[in-house]
Amino acid sequence: MSFQNPVFIPGPTNIPESLRKACDMPTIDHRSPLFGQILHPAREGVRKVLKSDSAEVFIFPSTGTGGWETALTNTLSPGDKVLAARNGMFSHRWIDMCQRHGLDVQIVEAQWGAGLPADRYEEILTADKGHEIKAVLATHNETATGVKSDIAAVRRALDAAGHPALLFVDGVSSIASMDFRFDAWGVDVAVTGSQKGFMLTAGLAITGFSEKAMAATGSATLPRTFFDIRDMETGYANNAYPYTPAVGLLNGLNEACRMLLDEGLENVFARHHRIAEGVRAAVRAWGLELCAISPEVYSDTVSAIRTPDGFNATDIVTHAANTYGVAFGVGLGEVAGKVFRIGHLGSLTDVMTLSGIATAEMCMADLGLDITLGSGVAAAQEYYRAHSALPQKDAA
Ligand SMILES: Cc1ncc(COP(=O)(O)O)c(C=O)c1O
Repeated sequence: MSFQNPVFIPGPTNIPESLRKACDMPTIDHRSPLFGQILHPAREGVRKVLKSDSAEVFIFPSTGTGGWETALTNTLSPGDKVLAARNGMFSHRWIDMCQRHGLDVQIVEAQWGAGLPADRYEEILTADKGHEIKAVLATHNETATGVKSDIAAVRRALDAAGHPALLFVDGVSSIASMDFRFDAWGVDVAVTGSQKGFMLTAGLAITGFSEKAMAATGSATLPRTFFDIRDMETGYANNAYPYTPAVGLLNGLNEACRMLLDEGLENVFARHHRIAEGVRAAVRAWGLELCAISPEVYSDTVSAIRTPDGFNATDIVTHAANTYGVAFGVGLGEVAGKVFRIGHLGSLTDVMTLSGIATAEMCMADLGLDITLGSGVAAAQEYYRAHSALPQKDAA
Protein backbone atom coordinates (compact mmCIF):
# COMPACT_ATOMS: atom_id res chain seq x y z
CA MET A 1 0.00 0.00 0.00
CA SER A 2 1.42 3.38 -0.95
CA PHE A 3 0.36 6.72 0.45
CA GLN A 4 2.46 8.59 -2.12
CA ASN A 5 -0.17 8.86 -4.84
CA PRO A 6 -2.83 11.54 -4.80
CA VAL A 7 -6.43 10.34 -4.61
CA PHE A 8 -8.92 11.03 -7.39
CA ILE A 9 -12.08 10.23 -5.49
CA PRO A 10 -14.58 13.08 -5.20
CA GLY A 11 -13.89 13.47 -1.49
CA PRO A 12 -12.31 12.95 0.88
CA THR A 13 -9.71 14.96 -1.00
CA ASN A 14 -5.96 15.27 -0.73
CA ILE A 15 -4.97 17.09 2.46
CA PRO A 16 -2.40 19.89 2.27
CA GLU A 17 0.46 19.47 4.75
CA SER A 18 -0.42 22.72 6.52
CA LEU A 19 -3.92 21.44 7.24
CA ARG A 20 -2.67 18.10 8.54
CA LYS A 21 -0.44 20.03 10.90
CA ALA A 22 -3.25 22.34 11.96
CA CYS A 23 -5.41 19.35 12.90
CA ASP A 24 -2.58 17.73 14.86
CA MET A 25 -2.57 19.75 18.07
CA PRO A 26 -2.33 19.17 21.79
CA THR A 27 -5.48 18.82 23.84
CA ILE A 28 -6.96 22.06 25.09
CA ASP A 29 -9.90 22.72 27.38
CA HIS A 30 -12.85 22.79 25.01
CA ARG A 31 -14.86 24.89 27.47
CA SER A 32 -12.35 27.70 27.68
CA PRO A 33 -11.88 31.04 25.90
CA LEU A 34 -8.93 29.41 24.12
CA PHE A 35 -11.39 27.14 22.31
CA GLY A 36 -13.39 30.23 21.36
CA GLN A 37 -10.29 31.52 19.56
CA ILE A 38 -10.56 28.50 17.25
CA LEU A 39 -14.35 28.16 17.03
CA HIS A 40 -15.40 31.72 16.27
CA PRO A 41 -12.86 32.44 13.51
CA ALA A 42 -13.73 29.08 11.92
CA ARG A 43 -17.43 30.01 11.87
CA GLU A 44 -16.59 33.45 10.48
CA GLY A 45 -14.35 31.87 7.83
CA VAL A 46 -17.12 29.50 6.75
CA ARG A 47 -19.57 32.42 6.55
CA LYS A 48 -17.20 34.19 4.15
CA VAL A 49 -16.71 31.03 2.07
CA LEU A 50 -20.51 30.78 1.81
CA LYS A 51 -20.53 34.40 0.58
CA SER A 52 -22.85 35.49 3.34
CA ASP A 53 -22.91 38.49 5.64
CA SER A 54 -25.38 37.08 8.06
CA ALA A 55 -25.67 33.26 7.92
CA GLU A 56 -25.53 31.58 11.33
CA VAL A 57 -22.93 28.85 10.97
CA PHE A 58 -23.30 25.64 12.96
CA ILE A 59 -20.62 22.97 12.85
CA PHE A 60 -21.24 19.47 14.19
CA PRO A 61 -18.93 16.51 14.77
CA SER A 62 -20.54 14.60 11.88
CA THR A 63 -20.50 14.52 8.08
CA GLY A 64 -22.57 15.99 5.26
CA THR A 65 -25.34 13.51 6.02
CA GLY A 66 -25.60 14.96 9.51
CA GLY A 67 -25.85 18.37 7.86
CA TRP A 68 -28.90 17.17 5.89
CA GLU A 69 -30.48 16.03 9.15
CA THR A 70 -29.63 19.35 10.80
CA ALA A 71 -31.47 21.22 8.03
CA LEU A 72 -34.59 19.06 8.23
CA THR A 73 -35.01 18.52 11.96
CA ASN A 74 -34.43 22.13 13.00
CA THR A 75 -36.97 23.65 10.63
CA LEU A 76 -39.71 21.12 9.83
CA SER A 77 -42.46 19.12 11.57
CA PRO A 78 -43.75 15.59 10.93
CA GLY A 79 -45.97 15.46 7.84
CA ASP A 80 -44.61 18.70 6.38
CA LYS A 81 -44.45 18.71 2.62
CA VAL A 82 -41.11 19.21 0.87
CA LEU A 83 -40.26 19.43 -2.82
CA ALA A 84 -37.19 17.64 -4.16
CA ALA A 85 -35.79 16.42 -7.46
CA ARG A 86 -34.03 13.08 -7.79
CA ASN A 87 -31.23 13.22 -10.36
CA GLY A 88 -28.56 11.12 -8.67
CA MET A 89 -27.59 9.10 -5.64
CA PHE A 90 -27.15 11.99 -3.22
CA SER A 91 -30.42 13.73 -4.00
CA HIS A 92 -31.98 10.26 -3.66
CA ARG A 93 -30.45 9.75 -0.21
CA TRP A 94 -31.63 13.15 1.03
CA ILE A 95 -35.14 12.31 -0.17
CA ASP A 96 -34.90 8.98 1.64
CA MET A 97 -33.89 10.79 4.82
CA CYS A 98 -36.91 13.09 4.51
CA GLN A 99 -39.21 10.10 4.14
CA ARG A 100 -37.68 8.32 7.12
CA HIS A 101 -38.35 11.46 9.15
CA GLY A 102 -42.03 11.33 8.25
CA LEU A 103 -41.96 14.20 5.77
CA ASP A 104 -44.21 14.16 2.73
CA VAL A 105 -41.86 14.48 -0.24
CA GLN A 106 -43.11 15.58 -3.64
CA ILE A 107 -40.45 14.05 -5.88
CA VAL A 108 -39.63 15.31 -9.36
CA GLU A 109 -37.81 12.53 -11.20
CA ALA A 110 -35.05 13.85 -13.41
CA GLN A 111 -32.58 12.15 -15.72
CA TRP A 112 -29.36 11.05 -14.01
CA GLY A 113 -27.00 13.36 -15.86
CA ALA A 114 -29.36 16.35 -16.00
CA GLY A 115 -29.55 19.28 -13.59
CA LEU A 116 -32.47 20.16 -11.33
CA PRO A 117 -35.58 21.08 -13.33
CA ALA A 118 -36.16 24.59 -11.96
CA ASP A 119 -39.03 25.11 -14.42
CA ARG A 120 -40.90 22.10 -12.94
CA TYR A 121 -40.22 23.49 -9.48
CA GLU A 122 -41.81 26.76 -10.56
CA GLU A 123 -44.94 25.02 -11.93
CA ILE A 124 -45.36 22.99 -8.74
CA LEU A 125 -44.75 25.95 -6.45
CA THR A 126 -47.15 28.15 -8.45
CA ALA A 127 -49.85 25.47 -8.20
CA ASP A 128 -49.33 25.21 -4.43
CA LYS A 129 -51.67 28.09 -3.62
CA GLY A 130 -52.07 27.04 0.00
CA HIS A 131 -48.29 27.02 0.56
CA GLU A 132 -48.34 23.45 1.79
CA ILE A 133 -44.73 23.01 0.66
CA LYS A 134 -42.50 24.08 3.51
CA ALA A 135 -39.08 23.46 2.00
CA VAL A 136 -37.44 22.99 -1.38
CA LEU A 137 -34.38 20.74 -1.55
CA ALA A 138 -31.65 21.32 -4.10
CA THR A 139 -28.44 19.37 -4.56
CA HIS A 140 -26.05 21.92 -6.01
CA ASN A 141 -23.54 19.38 -7.26
CA GLU A 142 -24.61 15.76 -7.78
CA THR A 143 -21.39 13.95 -6.98
CA ALA A 144 -22.72 10.68 -8.39
CA THR A 145 -23.19 12.04 -11.90
CA GLY A 146 -20.83 15.02 -12.00
CA VAL A 147 -23.70 17.44 -12.53
CA LYS A 148 -24.09 20.94 -11.19
CA SER A 149 -27.47 22.60 -10.90
CA ASP A 150 -28.50 26.22 -11.17
CA ILE A 151 -29.44 27.29 -7.65
CA ALA A 152 -30.13 30.88 -8.74
CA ALA A 153 -32.79 29.43 -11.06
CA VAL A 154 -34.37 27.55 -8.15
CA ARG A 155 -34.49 30.81 -6.18
CA ARG A 156 -36.08 32.52 -9.21
CA ALA A 157 -38.66 29.71 -9.35
CA LEU A 158 -39.60 30.31 -5.71
CA ASP A 159 -39.78 34.07 -6.23
CA ALA A 160 -41.76 33.83 -9.47
CA ALA A 161 -44.30 31.65 -7.67
CA GLY A 162 -44.33 34.08 -4.71
CA HIS A 163 -43.75 31.02 -2.54
CA PRO A 164 -42.41 31.27 1.03
CA ALA A 165 -40.88 27.77 1.24
CA LEU A 166 -37.40 27.50 2.69
CA LEU A 167 -34.58 26.70 0.26
CA PHE A 168 -32.16 24.00 1.46
CA VAL A 169 -29.03 23.49 -0.63
CA ASP A 170 -26.68 20.53 -0.46
CA GLY A 171 -23.31 22.04 -1.27
CA VAL A 172 -21.29 19.08 0.00
CA SER A 173 -19.24 18.74 -3.18
CA SER A 174 -19.44 22.35 -4.34
CA ILE A 175 -18.90 24.69 -1.39
CA ALA A 176 -15.30 25.94 -1.24
CA SER A 177 -14.62 24.60 -4.75
CA MET A 178 -17.34 26.02 -6.99
CA ASP A 179 -19.15 29.37 -6.89
CA PHE A 180 -21.70 29.31 -4.08
CA ARG A 181 -23.69 32.39 -3.08
CA PHE A 182 -25.66 31.96 0.12
CA ASP A 183 -27.01 35.52 0.28
CA ALA A 184 -27.42 36.24 -3.43
CA TRP A 185 -29.31 32.99 -4.03
CA GLY A 186 -31.48 33.40 -0.95
CA VAL A 187 -30.36 30.06 0.49
CA ASP A 188 -32.00 29.25 3.83
CA VAL A 189 -29.89 26.29 4.87
CA ALA A 190 -26.58 25.33 3.22
CA VAL A 191 -24.98 21.99 4.01
CA THR A 192 -21.46 20.72 3.53
CA GLY A 193 -18.77 18.59 5.16
CA SER A 194 -15.10 19.02 6.01
CA GLN A 195 -13.69 16.44 3.59
CA LYS A 196 -14.26 18.06 0.19
CA GLY A 197 -13.59 21.71 -0.65
CA PHE A 198 -12.22 22.32 2.84
CA MET A 199 -9.56 19.64 2.20
CA LEU A 200 -9.75 18.05 5.67
CA THR A 201 -10.61 14.56 6.83
CA ALA A 202 -14.27 13.71 7.22
CA GLY A 203 -15.66 14.58 10.64
CA LEU A 204 -17.51 17.89 10.47
CA ALA A 205 -21.01 18.70 9.24
CA ILE A 206 -20.95 22.37 8.31
CA THR A 207 -24.21 24.26 7.97
CA GLY A 208 -25.33 27.84 7.43
CA PHE A 209 -28.79 29.06 8.45
CA SER A 210 -30.57 32.19 7.20
CA GLU A 211 -32.59 34.40 9.51
CA LYS A 212 -35.76 32.82 8.10
CA ALA A 213 -34.47 29.31 8.79
CA MET A 214 -33.48 30.37 12.31
CA ALA A 215 -37.02 31.64 12.87
CA ALA A 216 -38.45 28.29 11.70
CA THR A 217 -36.69 26.47 14.58
CA GLY A 218 -39.25 27.91 17.00
CA SER A 219 -42.17 26.00 15.50
CA ALA A 220 -40.38 22.90 14.11
CA THR A 221 -41.32 19.75 16.00
CA LEU A 222 -39.26 17.00 14.35
CA PRO A 223 -37.29 15.32 17.17
CA ARG A 224 -33.73 16.58 17.48
CA THR A 225 -31.08 16.37 20.15
CA PHE A 226 -27.54 15.97 18.81
CA PHE A 227 -28.25 18.32 15.89
CA ASP A 228 -30.31 20.89 17.81
CA ILE A 229 -29.01 24.29 16.75
CA ARG A 230 -30.61 25.93 19.82
CA ASP A 231 -28.29 23.94 22.11
CA MET A 232 -25.41 24.73 19.78
CA GLU A 233 -26.20 28.45 19.93
CA THR A 234 -26.20 28.39 23.72
CA GLY A 235 -22.90 26.52 23.67
CA TYR A 236 -21.28 28.93 21.21
CA ALA A 237 -22.21 31.90 23.41
CA ASN A 238 -20.00 30.28 26.08
CA ASN A 239 -17.11 29.31 23.76
CA ALA A 240 -18.29 25.72 23.97
CA TYR A 241 -20.37 22.93 22.49
CA PRO A 242 -23.28 21.09 24.13
CA TYR A 243 -20.90 18.11 23.99
CA THR A 244 -17.25 17.51 23.15
CA PRO A 245 -16.16 19.20 19.92
CA ALA A 246 -13.64 17.91 17.38
CA VAL A 247 -11.11 20.60 18.34
CA GLY A 248 -8.31 19.58 15.98
CA LEU A 249 -10.63 19.46 12.98
CA LEU A 250 -12.06 22.85 13.88
CA ASN A 251 -8.53 24.21 14.05
CA GLY A 252 -7.96 22.68 10.62
CA LEU A 253 -11.17 24.27 9.34
CA ASN A 254 -10.05 27.64 10.59
CA GLU A 255 -6.77 27.23 8.71
CA ALA A 256 -8.56 25.89 5.60
CA CYS A 257 -10.76 28.98 5.46
CA ARG A 258 -7.70 31.17 5.84
CA MET A 259 -6.02 29.34 2.93
CA LEU A 260 -9.08 29.59 0.70
CA LEU A 261 -9.65 33.26 1.46
CA ASP A 262 -5.94 34.06 1.00
CA GLU A 263 -6.01 32.40 -2.42
CA GLY A 264 -9.24 34.30 -3.12
CA LEU A 265 -12.51 32.48 -3.68
CA GLU A 266 -12.71 33.46 -7.35
CA ASN A 267 -9.18 32.10 -7.86
CA VAL A 268 -10.16 28.87 -6.08
CA PHE A 269 -13.16 28.47 -8.40
CA ALA A 270 -11.06 29.33 -11.47
CA ARG A 271 -8.45 26.74 -10.43
CA HIS A 272 -11.12 24.06 -10.12
CA HIS A 273 -12.58 25.03 -13.48
CA ARG A 274 -9.19 24.90 -15.18
CA ILE A 275 -8.30 21.52 -13.73
CA ALA A 276 -11.75 20.16 -14.64
CA GLU A 277 -11.43 21.41 -18.22
CA GLY A 278 -8.18 19.47 -18.57
CA VAL A 279 -9.92 16.29 -17.40
CA ARG A 280 -12.80 16.92 -19.81
CA ALA A 281 -10.31 17.43 -22.67
CA ALA A 282 -8.84 14.03 -21.81
CA VAL A 283 -12.27 12.39 -21.80
CA ARG A 284 -12.99 13.79 -25.26
CA ALA A 285 -9.62 12.56 -26.53
CA TRP A 286 -10.47 9.06 -25.28
CA GLY A 287 -13.70 9.19 -27.30
CA LEU A 288 -15.75 8.72 -24.14
CA GLU A 289 -18.75 10.65 -22.87
CA LEU A 290 -19.52 12.29 -19.58
CA CYS A 291 -22.62 11.28 -17.68
CA ALA A 292 -23.47 15.02 -17.49
CA ILE A 293 -25.64 15.66 -20.51
CA SER A 294 -24.49 19.15 -21.52
CA PRO A 295 -21.71 21.66 -20.81
CA GLU A 296 -23.84 23.96 -18.65
CA VAL A 297 -24.21 21.20 -16.07
CA TYR A 298 -20.58 20.01 -16.10
CA SER A 299 -19.26 19.87 -12.57
CA ASP A 300 -15.89 21.41 -11.81
CA THR A 301 -15.28 19.03 -8.90
CA VAL A 302 -16.01 15.58 -10.33
CA SER A 303 -16.36 13.98 -13.75
CA ALA A 304 -18.43 10.81 -14.12
CA ILE A 305 -17.21 9.11 -17.29
CA ARG A 306 -19.33 6.62 -19.19
CA THR A 307 -17.63 3.48 -20.47
CA PRO A 308 -18.81 1.50 -23.53
CA ASP A 309 -21.87 -0.77 -23.15
CA GLY A 310 -20.99 -4.21 -21.88
CA PHE A 311 -17.90 -2.97 -20.02
CA ASN A 312 -18.02 -2.81 -16.23
CA ALA A 313 -16.69 0.65 -15.33
CA THR A 314 -16.05 -0.46 -11.75
CA ASP A 315 -13.26 -2.72 -13.08
CA ILE A 316 -11.24 0.43 -13.84
CA VAL A 317 -11.50 1.53 -10.22
CA THR A 318 -10.58 -1.90 -8.87
CA HIS A 319 -7.70 -2.27 -11.32
CA ALA A 320 -6.33 1.21 -10.56
CA ALA A 321 -6.30 0.44 -6.84
CA ASN A 322 -4.79 -3.04 -7.19
CA THR A 323 -2.26 -2.35 -9.92
CA TYR A 324 -1.25 1.27 -9.54
CA GLY A 325 -2.31 2.16 -5.99
CA VAL A 326 -4.52 4.98 -7.25
CA ALA A 327 -8.09 5.71 -6.14
CA PHE A 328 -10.87 6.72 -8.52
CA GLY A 329 -14.59 6.80 -7.67
CA VAL A 330 -17.03 4.03 -8.59
CA GLY A 331 -20.44 4.65 -10.14
CA LEU A 332 -23.29 4.75 -7.65
CA GLY A 333 -26.95 3.72 -7.86
CA GLU A 334 -28.45 3.83 -11.35
CA VAL A 335 -25.06 4.46 -12.94
CA ALA A 336 -23.14 1.77 -11.00
CA GLY A 337 -20.92 -0.14 -13.43
CA LYS A 338 -21.69 2.36 -16.18
CA VAL A 339 -19.40 5.20 -15.08
CA PHE A 340 -16.19 5.69 -13.18
CA ARG A 341 -15.49 9.01 -11.54
CA ILE A 342 -12.43 11.22 -11.45
CA GLY A 343 -12.62 13.55 -8.49
CA HIS A 344 -10.80 16.82 -9.17
CA LEU A 345 -11.45 18.98 -6.16
CA GLY A 346 -9.61 20.31 -3.20
CA SER A 347 -5.84 20.37 -3.04
CA LEU A 348 -4.86 19.46 -6.57
CA THR A 349 -2.48 20.81 -9.21
CA ASP A 350 -2.30 20.38 -12.97
CA VAL A 351 0.64 18.03 -12.53
CA MET A 352 -1.19 15.84 -10.02
CA THR A 353 -4.19 15.74 -12.32
CA LEU A 354 -2.05 14.63 -15.26
CA SER A 355 -0.90 11.64 -13.17
CA GLY A 356 -4.52 10.65 -12.60
CA ILE A 357 -5.37 10.96 -16.28
CA ALA A 358 -2.28 8.88 -17.16
CA THR A 359 -3.32 6.19 -14.65
CA ALA A 360 -6.87 6.05 -15.98
CA GLU A 361 -5.43 5.56 -19.48
CA MET A 362 -3.18 2.71 -18.34
CA CYS A 363 -6.11 1.00 -16.63
CA MET A 364 -8.42 1.31 -19.61
CA ALA A 365 -5.72 0.01 -21.96
CA ASP A 366 -4.90 -2.87 -19.57
CA LEU A 367 -8.57 -3.82 -19.51
CA GLY A 368 -8.86 -3.91 -23.28
CA LEU A 369 -10.60 -0.63 -24.04
CA ASP A 370 -9.58 1.02 -27.29
CA ILE A 371 -7.55 3.83 -25.71
CA THR A 372 -4.34 5.25 -27.13
CA LEU A 373 -1.86 5.72 -24.31
CA GLY A 374 -1.03 9.38 -23.93
CA SER A 375 -4.06 10.67 -25.83
CA GLY A 376 -5.88 12.04 -22.81
CA VAL A 377 -2.68 13.21 -21.16
CA ALA A 378 -1.72 15.12 -24.33
CA ALA A 379 -5.14 16.76 -24.57
CA ALA A 380 -4.98 17.85 -20.93
CA GLN A 381 -1.36 19.02 -21.33
CA GLU A 382 -2.39 21.20 -24.26
CA TYR A 383 -5.16 22.70 -22.19
CA TYR A 384 -2.94 23.32 -19.17
CA ARG A 385 -0.15 24.79 -21.32
CA ALA A 386 -2.62 27.21 -22.85
CA HIS A 387 -4.17 28.07 -19.47
CA SER A 388 -1.23 28.22 -17.11
CA ALA A 389 -1.88 28.26 -13.38
CA LEU A 390 1.14 30.48 -12.73
CA PRO A 391 1.72 34.12 -13.68
CA GLN A 392 3.56 34.20 -17.02
CA LYS A 393 6.97 35.84 -17.42
CA ASP A 394 7.98 37.37 -20.73
CA ALA A 395 9.69 34.80 -22.93
CA ALA A 396 12.60 37.24 -23.41
C1 LIG B 1 -23.56 15.86 -2.84
C2 LIG B 1 -23.36 15.07 -1.58
N1 LIG B 1 -24.26 15.19 -0.61
C3 LIG B 1 -24.14 14.52 0.54
C4 LIG B 1 -23.09 13.66 0.76
C5 LIG B 1 -23.00 12.92 2.04
O1 LIG B 1 -21.95 13.45 2.78
P1 LIG B 1 -21.15 12.58 3.84
O2 LIG B 1 -20.61 11.39 3.15
O3 LIG B 1 -20.11 13.55 4.32
O4 LIG B 1 -22.11 12.22 4.92
C6 LIG B 1 -22.11 13.52 -0.21
C7 LIG B 1 -20.96 12.62 -0.02
O5 LIG B 1 -20.17 12.39 -0.87
C8 LIG B 1 -22.25 14.24 -1.41
O6 LIG B 1 -21.34 14.14 -2.39
